[in-house]
Amino acid sequence: MCGIVGYTGPREAYPVIIKGLKRLEYRGYDSTGVALLNGGLKVYKKKGKVVELEEAIVGKDLHSHTGIGHTRWATHGEPSDRNAHPHSSASGKLAMIHNGIIENYTQLKKELSSKGYSFKSDTDTEVLLNFIEEIKKNNQCGLEEAVRVALKRVVGAYVILLLDQDDPGTIIAARKGSPLVIGIGKGEHFLGSDASPMLEYTKEVVYVNDYELAIVKPDELVLKNLGNEKITPYVQKLDIELAAIEKGGYDHFMLKEIFEQPQTIFDCLRGRLDIMGGTITMAGVQNHITQLKNANRIMIVACGTSWHAGLIAEYIIEELCRIPVEVEYASEFRYRNPVIHKGDVIIAVSQSGETADTLVAIEKAKDQGAIIFGVVNVVGSSIARLSDSGAYTHAGPEIGVASTKAFTAQLVVLTMIAMKIAYEKGTINQERFNHLLNELHEIPNKAEIVLKQNDAIKKLAEKYKDARDFLYLGRGYNFPVALEGALKLKEISYIHAEGYPAAEMKHGPIALVDESLPVVFVATRDSYHEKIVSNIQEIKARKGKVIAIITEGDETITDMADDTIAVPEADEIMAPMLSTIPLQLLAYYIGVAKNLDVDKPRNLAKSVTVE
Ligand code: AGP
Repeated sequence: MCGIVGYTGPREAYPVIIKGLKRLEYRGYDSTGVALLNGGLKVYKKKGKVVELEEAIVGKDLHSHTGIGHTRWATHGEPSDRNAHPHSSASGKLAMIHNGIIENYTQLKKELSSKGYSFKSDTDTEVLLNFIEEIKKNNQCGLEEAVRVALKRVVGAYVILLLDQDDPGTIIAARKGSPLVIGIGKGEHFLGSDASPMLEYTKEVVYVNDYELAIVKPDELVLKNLGNEKITPYVQKLDIELAAIEKGGYDHFMLKEIFEQPQTIFDCLRGRLDIMGGTITMAGVQNHITQLKNANRIMIVACGTSWHAGLIAEYIIEELCRIPVEVEYASEFRYRNPVIHKGDVIIAVSQSGETADTLVAIEKAKDQGAIIFGVVNVVGSSIARLSDSGAYTHAGPEIGVASTKAFTAQLVVLTMIAMKIAYEKGTINQERFNHLLNELHEIPNKAEIVLKQNDAIKKLAEKYKDARDFLYLGRGYNFPVALEGALKLKEISYIHAEGYPAAEMKHGPIALVDESLPVVFVATRDSYHEKIVSNIQEIKARKGKVIAIITEGDETITDMADDTIAVPEADEIMAPMLSTIPLQLLAYYIGVAKNLDVDKPRNLAKSVTVE
């Protein structure tokens, strides 16, 4: 949720840390802070974004070769200067940043208060830091030992980075449940919530696992478990270019990522879809094809936009593979005590691969014997490493908090998985398989055509930007697209919006309809077309303003709707990959028209690493 950065080496630490925090700001932007070791410990922190901290500390002594930095998404304690990280210990000799939640912090706080500790903030982090200092003092031990002992008493999720005034050059780090990557340079080391803060300095990284502790010095990296046993770091090479995490001339990452979709969908197909050979090659699926095609049921577990991709996959897998599918909100699945049988197949869908609700849900299912198949975008992420098998979506780094290109890539991967299982299972014949192959092969070009509607959609956004509410409606494959369109608008424009199966309207929500309510219909030509036309008439009969996403040349709906956005004809299974794009652009331009920070919407974070 929060972004953490650390550096120790010959460079000036402050500029490395500040640049890294800006790259991680999509993870949370309630407050920012740095701690620098140079003789003593200097801590600078402030409510607000990284630039606000930079401006506030111009002229301060920022010289140091070892430091840590944090950008916050508030959990315990409102966004404020005093709740900002880094926190200093009671003695002032230790500084710590934290990403995660310490669930038993009230109990630890009580113990410390009874020993005379007082607290400058409302955070769980300051409590853990003083708990560590108390152990260090009591046990007369070093910081590393104190951290190890303390973490054995902690319940919750954490990545913590600590500095000790008496141990210049060293950063102590530990992880459980939240992501931590360490970058290896020549005589220097970088630490981050993901690889983006270190990408311009090194491609050699170590992904730290749960219950691991790192002792990081300029020219040494030691990994240990909480049992104080050394672990050999597994160094991996990053396959991302710096340009991938730059805006590339676009005003916002969100717009850049929307316009990247023809290429990211192509990248997702590349090396997998062989139109000449008439095949789909996905090693992750092939390695588990027996379990997949013989599955009694498939459960898809995810959150937010990834859950919407799962919902579309339910329609596709049931249609093509004739296997019953259940789509689960990970947070509910985790605590609902679901019935899981040995060998059950769970598909975990996640862009970041770090969403705590999804991670803990599949950990639980795996313990009960389920096979976990991950559909993930971030390479090396926790869900990818926990999965028994899987498929990456190859959409590249997604920086905008609102998921766009990762969603369409998820649809492509889930569609290919369904096609491959169905073909192997014989629930579709060669002719249907080839038809779907061709349809999939054409999607990148068709997405390019959709993006040509950019200016028309910008005008529509200007027309409807002052609406108080929106409704999004669709049927069949387009119902989850309506949900996704509504979510994008909520996230980016803060306008209340609801997505519904169009036929559900008559059972209540139609009461909301009047001349001031824009109703967005996802109405591309499909087996539900006649039905959706009637639903549009019902809305028009109540003077609702209809904006319809239609298939090119659809005169019927064009004559009925107030505004239309046309997308190229496509098989109904593929159409969501196209009809989603105008909804992404509509949300984007309404957000821009309202002068909102579309890349970093209020109260949100890109990767929700706390439950
Ligand atoms: C989508 O725009 C949001 N950022 C959010 O709903 C997101 O989809 C959700 O948090 C799941 O994230 P994941 O795909 O990284 O697991």
